[in-house]
Amino acid sequence: MGWLEGRVALVTGGASGIGRAVVERFLAEGARVAVLDSSGKNIAAMQGHFPDLVMVEGDVSSFEDNERAVAAAVEAHGGLDTFIGNAGIFDYFAPVATTPGATLASSFDEIFAVNVKGYLLGVKAALPALLESTSPSIVFTLSNGAFLPAGGGTVYTASKHAAVGLIRQLAYELAPRVRVNGVAPGGTLTDLRGASSLGHAETSLLDVPDFPDLVRATNPLGIVQQAADHTGPYVLLASPENAAAVTGVVINSDGGMQVRGLAQAAGGTDL
Ligand SMILES: NC(=O)c1ccc[n+]([C@@H]2O[C@H](COP(=O)([O-])OP(=O)(O)OC[C@H]3O[C@@H](n4cnc5c(N)ncnc54)[C@H](O)[C@@H]3O)[C@@H](O)[C@H]2O)c1
Repeated sequence: MGWLEGRVALVTGGASGIGRAVVERFLAEGARVAVLDSSGKNIAAMQGHFPDLVMVEGDVSSFEDNERAVAAAVEAHGGLDTFIGNAGIFDYFAPVATTPGATLASSFDEIFAVNVKGYLLGVKAALPALLESTSPSIVFTLSNGAFLPAGGGTVYTASKHAAVGLIRQLAYELAPRVRVNGVAPGGTLTDLRGASSLGHAETSLLDVPDFPDLVRATNPLGIVQQAADHTGPYVLLASPENAAAVTGVVINSDGGMQVRGLAQAAGGTDL
């Protein structure tokens, strides 16, 4: 029997990368799942593999689109137990010093609208349905950039730090009814796109030269993370039986970036 038997989850950005891996893992654990994603192309590609999956095309920065996705999940599956805020966009390390002021301003609005407002509006839309569940939970995808510099530029890093604030305040406000937690992946081989205001709508991490080497060199475990590597923490945090007392925390799933130290990041000692 799976850890999420009989549970219902809604995953934003669930048609690609980490979100898609979470969806596939939740299905394998016995959950029924709905997805909200802005990419019709990604939805079409995934729906072919999972014909019964509820997939809604829409933008997480729109409250109405979040409401539509919640309604579709509830209608198809009879309720909602877990909301997973995951859809995100990147700034491709845009430096403050060389980015024109107007571009910086619009990239802030664009990135915060998805990475921060998208999570907040998703929670607001999901809350009435979550409160009907006997053991509701919320999980957000953060990043090593939620705690450390250099996992992106200033705007992306600030947006992921802001999402830590959402977790802490929501865990406080929604207790004792709803548990609220996060998973913070390190650099992961996905199709993560950048802000269009920075000219990076079509830029993908998969195209960044040496990205796997960069990831390997900056985490002490020396691993190049795949989306599926992160799914266990989401399952744990969504499972009332296995995380009944866990709220307001973030599980780092980044190969140990918090313990990089001052010397060589990967490699350690000969053991
Ligand atoms: N890939 C990494 O290295 C990495 C590391 C740490 C954290 N993250 C975070 O993981 C999350 C998922 O990213 P990923 O790497 O799987 O990228 P991805 O591009 O493979 O998946 C993101 C999905 O979100 C969707 N999306 C983007 N903007 C949206 C919007 N406004 N409304 C609805 N859907 C939208 C995209 O269409 C896509 O299907 C993001 O929050 C990202 O910041 C990624």
